[in-house]
Amino acid sequence: MHVNILNQKLFDSTSDVKIVFVVAKAFEHRWIRDKESFELLGFKGESEETLFVAASRILYVGCDSLDAEDIRLSAAKALEALKKTNVKTVSIGTYSSDCPGMNVKALAEGLMLGSYVFDQYKSKKESSTLESVLICLEDYARTDVSVETASKALKEGTLIAEATNFAKAIVNTTPFDMTPIALAKLAQTLTSLPNVTCKVMDETFLKEQGMNAFLAVNRASVHPPRLIHLTYMPKAPKKRLVYVGKGLTYDSGGLSLKPSEHMVTMKADKSGGAAVMSILKAAAELELPFEVHAIIGATENMIGGDAYKPDDVLVAKNGKTIEVRNTDAEGRLVLADCLCYAQELKPDLLVDMATLTGACVVALGEYTTGIMGHDSALKHSMQKAADKSGELSGMLPFNKYLKKLLKSSVADMSNISSSRYGGAITAGLFLDNFIEEAYKDKWLHLDIAGPAYLEKAWGYNQSGATGAGVRMNLYWMLEEAKK
Ligand code: BES
Ligand code: ZN
Ligand code: ZN
Repeated sequence: MHVNILNQKLFDSTSDVKIVFVVAKAFEHRWIRDKESFELLGFKGESEETLFVAASRILYVGCDSLDAEDIRLSAAKALEALKKTNVKTVSIGTYSSDCPGMNVKALAEGLMLGSYVFDQYKSKKESSTLESVLICLEDYARTDVSVETASKALKEGTLIAEATNFAKAIVNTTPFDMTPIALAKLAQTLTSLPNVTCKVMDETFLKEQGMNAFLAVNRASVHPPRLIHLTYMPKAPKKRLVYVGKGLTYDSGGLSLKPSEHMVTMKADKSGGAAVMSILKAAAELELPFEVHAIIGATENMIGGDAYKPDDVLVAKNGKTIEVRNTDAEGRLVLADCLCYAQELKPDLLVDMATLTGACVVALGEYTTGIMGHDSALKHSMQKAADKSGELSGMLPFNKYLKKLLKSSVADMSNISSSRYGGAITAGLFLDNFIEEAYKDKWLHLDIAGPAYLEKAWGYNQSGATGAGVRMNLYWMLEEAKK
């Protein structure tokens, strides 16, 4: 599906179908040509409501306001309504006379996000026939709505949404197909982008580097682990941004085995890894002025005669010792070593992303990413970026009393807290043990366990993977690039 800008008024454009947003239930807009039928057909203009009037070939979509997030939602709903039709071309107008410079970026994001279908394992493909969407610059004659600005917004929105869809596809792929080696191979394909390189490290490297916590998690898996390191290096970068992702291609829980109903969906435990890879991809495509690194700790957490065990003590890359009390708290072990590796790059910003704890989902609900870290301004800047991007986030506060709950009588720390409460924060505080003093205020931990994977669709997110964390970080970078 292609989205293009058209220097034409909506009703001068030729397309199979026109999409008209019914904004804030106002039926008087000049584009609304069927309002007499709305009552008969039961269309109220509610958000997420659509009505196709065949005679005028107009698809009406309810839209609460012209705010970015409402535009994304309505654009996605419009595409959803067209999925099962044979429509090939649609056009949609920008409401620039009502709202100067209407958010073409949000429109593009909504269209692209809404068009995502995962049918890799269906014998009958569900993808729609839609080939092209034209965004008509209604007031193109006005100086403040130039084709150039609109095209830039379109490009930004499209690339951000495509990166999000790229992450969804990785996460939705089965653990049989997306092994650590397969994930590494996929990462290597990104080197076709300008200024992107990729290093893939195997067990020998992990052993040399003393990454024994990471290796322990991998032990019972028949698939060898991979440390994937992607770099985007533009000319004269302003800053060095390092992203670390949890890439558990499957989390069975290990010997502390998950109950069957909790194991289903654990292919999604690679969501952090998929997100950091997608962020790097879009950063390169957008030619952002930052050096960006994406580091992924890729492994499975399995059971077997060689599995690591509760009672084991592991020595991490930085020499700290960890008592294993629960093998299902494996993500933090992999991240501990990867964070040590990441700090060797001397980052200006260090962000880790992980489906780390069920406790984060209990704390914030299924829709929301948990933001943790030491620096208040940094946390706020990420939350602000999340708000702008349409992702939901909430801050979870660290404190020294929760940190004490990780004490172990046999090692430097335990891999689980001694309390059943505050599990998302204690997981974050576990990671804090692997952050050097110099990077404490440059570090953010994003727990995406809730929003990364959906049993039930919501908003413009289909069921399955959502690409959580991709958009908020790209919005953060775009904001930072303006400084
Ligand atoms: N991958 C899980 C966390 C998770 C739970 C992600 C639900 C997505 C949805 C993680 O490895 C895990 O199992 N965490 C344990 C930690 C506990 C043993 C301290 C958990 O949350 O129960
Ligand atoms: Zn686990
Ligand atoms: Zn896990």
